[in-house]
Amino acid sequence: MTAGLAQFSLADKVILVTGAGRGLGFEIARAMAAAGGHVIVNGRDAGRLDAAVARIVADGGQASAAAFDVSNPAAVAVAFAEIGRRHGQLDVLVSNVGVRDRKPVSDLSIEDVRRLIDTDLVAGFTLAREAVQMMTPRRWGRIINMTSIAGPLARGGDAAYTAAKGGLDALTRALAVEFGPHGITVNAIAPGFFATETNTAMIADPDIGPPYAQRTALKRWGRPEEIAGAAVFLASEAASFITGHVLTVDGGTSIMFFP
Ligand SMILES: NC(=O)c1ccc[n+]([C@@H]2O[C@H](COP(=O)([O-])OP(=O)(O)OC[C@H]3O[C@@H](n4cnc5c(N)ncnc54)[C@H](OP(=O)(O)O)[C@@H]3O)[C@@H](O)[C@H]2O)c1
Repeated sequence: MTAGLAQFSLADKVILVTGAGRGLGFEIARAMAAAGGHVIVNGRDAGRLDAAVARIVADGGQASAAAFDVSNPAAVAVAFAEIGRRHGQLDVLVSNVGVRDRKPVSDLSIEDVRRLIDTDLVAGFTLAREAVQMMTPRRWGRIINMTSIAGPLARGGDAAYTAAKGGLDALTRALAVEFGPHGITVNAIAPGFFATETNTAMIADPDIGPPYAQRTALKRWGRPEEIAGAAVFLASEAASFITGHVLTVDGGTSIMFFP
């Protein structure tokens, strides 16, 4: 067992971060590369991925791109076979992709719900199933699922996302129990309100931006890079006895009765 700051190192680790071309996934990929890992950056837009890889490499990190749709199990299987051929190992999976479809239940079609659940929940299962095949023989692995405070905390007009993220919390615990005996830890990170590109319009809206900031104990939106420390920690040796845990990173939103 390493001690001190060395236990946070990700040197020699091969790490896949899905949805890492921008937003929280990019910040996680960048921080994990800075901690010494080789980061495989996923998304569907190859141009965006190349730009993300170039930024990480320019900072002195190791990174490569893997464009595939996480909601397509066949594409996921092909991508993992390629990771096996190129790297011979996968040590850390960050299952970060998440999409939203904010509509009242009466406006949500079954197809809308299925599409969202496929991306936000079923993909977590598909990716983990592939990842553990590479982790189990080495008896070491880390899986980190990006859930949300919208898993345990519900609000109207967001039923499909809330159901998917709540399911992903539960899947995290189920995988932790099943793969713990193989040396694999499975945890989740539940972000609160982060000032990502996707949320730009919400932050600019005077009815949403400032009230959401007030809804946190710290009275501000999170900066995207503020998610990264939790992810590096959970991926590292420092978190070796933590599994099945949902680590909330929300500036105190979910611990308050009132703003
Ligand atoms: N931002 C927040 O405040 C917040 C709060 C709570 C939870 N979260 C969760 O944190 C995670 C990251 O959020 P974010 O706001 O940083 O994400 P984002 O910027 O909206 O999305 C990140 C990337 O995901 C990729 N993506 C979308 N669908 C995909 C698919 N089917 N296959 C592969 N890649 C796909 C997109 O790239 P391409 O277009 O190239 O595919 C996009 O660049 C999500 O799970 C989200 O639910 C975020």
